[in-house]
Amino acid sequence: MKIAYAQTYPRFGEVQANVAEALELIRGVDADLVVLPELFNTGYAFLSKEEVKRFAEGVPDGETCRMLLEESRKQGKTIVAGLAEREGEAVYNTAVLVSKGRFLGLYRKIHLFNREKLLFNKGGAEPKVFWVDGVRIGMLICFDWLFPEIWRVLALKGADIVAHPANLVLPNYCQRAMLARAFENHIYTITANRVGEEKRGTYHLKYTGRSQIVSPKMDILASASEDQVEC
Ligand code: ACM
Repeated sequence: MKIAYAQTYPRFGEVQANVAEALELIRGVDADLVVLPELFNTGYAFLSKEEVKRFAEGVPDGETCRMLLEESRKQGKTIVAGLAEREGEAVYNTAVLVSKGRFLGLYRKIHLFNREKLLFNKGGAEPKVFWVDGVRIGMLICFDWLFPEIWRVLALKGADIVAHPANLVLPNYCQRAMLARAFENHIYTITANRVGEEKRGTYHLKYTGRSQIVSPKMDILASASEDQVEC
């Protein structure tokens, strides 16, 4: 299986343009599995839960998931992507897995970072593994990187690859920690981070890029720049 990250620069609230940019980017890459960043369609810097609710979409029935499904069917690819999910009154920071036009499953972020605790409901279910073309794929999201136990859960379920959509803002801690996560769990990790800045309300966030793929032997198989859109 050929695997890739897509490092994008979402503009806050410009869902159509963000989705179009991401799909265009992954069209150009020769990979079976492509991972997009956390909240790739909306941007990250939500100011209130009400605002999250306005942007959050159903999974798999919402427009973003529908477009991912269609694109995965056309390209014959498997895609993991982060988005804000709405289920009734709850909103989750969610990663979805779609493969060749089929919806396979989701993961709702458990370790919410900082103000995310005010914005999202916490995921209530353990991450799962999904079989794709003979490979077992799990998903975790960004700040989950700091908690070895949740990676272990996926390893014990047999994961070969953990897809890790991210919006990292701390300087390189995650990228370095992923060598340990990959090694101790004997998994490949694909961290798909975003680049760019967001200034909204009291937020001024600068994302650190440096998306990367790490092997179970701690080799960095691919790594991206800190500020460019790339795949
Ligand atoms: C993060 O979890 N987005 C830092």
